[in-house]
Amino acid sequence: MRKIILDGDPGHDDVIAFLMALGNSDQLEVLGFTTVAGNSTVENCTANILKIMDYLGVSIPVAAGYSAPLCRPFDSAAKFHGETGLDGAAAYPAAHSKPVPLHAIEFLKETLLSAEEKITLVTMGPLTNIAILLKTFPQVSETIEEIVMMGGSYATGNALPKAEFNIYADPDAAKIVFDSGVHLVLATIEACFAGGILLTEQESLKDGGKVSRLVYDILKFYSRYAITNGWDRTAIFDMTTILYLLAPEIFTYKDMRVDIEVNGVYTRGMTVCDDRGPTYIKNPENPKRVLLGADRQRVADLFLSTMKKLDERYR
Ligand code: RIB
Ligand code: CA
Repeated sequence: MRKIILDGDPGHDDVIAFLMALGNSDQLEVLGFTTVAGNSTVENCTANILKIMDYLGVSIPVAAGYSAPLCRPFDSAAKFHGETGLDGAAAYPAAHSKPVPLHAIEFLKETLLSAEEKITLVTMGPLTNIAILLKTFPQVSETIEEIVMMGGSYATGNALPKAEFNIYADPDAAKIVFDSGVHLVLATIEACFAGGILLTEQESLKDGGKVSRLVYDILKFYSRYAITNGWDRTAIFDMTTILYLLAPEIFTYKDMRVDIEVNGVYTRGMTVCDDRGPTYIKNPENPKRVLLGADRQRVADLFLSTMKKLDERYR
């Protein structure tokens, strides 16, 4: 059993990642969910994950975090996630539960330092909370097993031609985390797209149970960008982190040096992946695991079977 804490900006794919972890509770124990501004305001992100937990009757600590990047103005991804950050689920009942009365980094510090075993952090948004946690309480580094993040890319981008949104949104925070020495696993844009869920597979959720129908509604909004572009699938980005924890063999990856471009005019937030090999770089200290590809059918099978398990559990 691996103990994990999720940190993200729910967010359609953040929510589905949470459900994937919840549905595989025989392998993953979710100790908490810390929220950060990214897809929407931190208030919206906090309300969104609480809404989902209340809808299922699940009680897992939620702690609100930072409302803006370290040094840059906050700029949400409202065009992808809507004004609420979870459009498509707006009609679902508003949350009645409240977040815990601790800031996200206090919750993280207390949970990490009191744990009897190391904890894995799963990050799915800008790295603001994690950067400040590591800077404010450096002793927590010893208690973190690794950080598995949806973040970065090997060669492509979404926020910019060569930069992925979570890193782009707060590149200064990303640099702190990448330089921290904590082992990082990057679920890159490439790995997320390699594990895309077909629109036809999403359609099959409509006839499912309570959770499948919730995810169908969420994906109906989230996939409109894919439909507009004439794609036959959607990358449910953040879910890739949980899939890696559940079945790493689904993925191809390389361990390599990765640095963050903090101030590039055209490349702010680029994850500079250096796999030139030993001729040029000698034993890169603190290599990161960069996920590159995925077995799409196995991703889809695990996603759909987990939704069925959740339908059985939450009626
Ligand atoms: O680039 C994709 C990432 O940005 C995902 O985490 C998505 O939720 C958005 O935050
Ligand atoms: Ca996210």
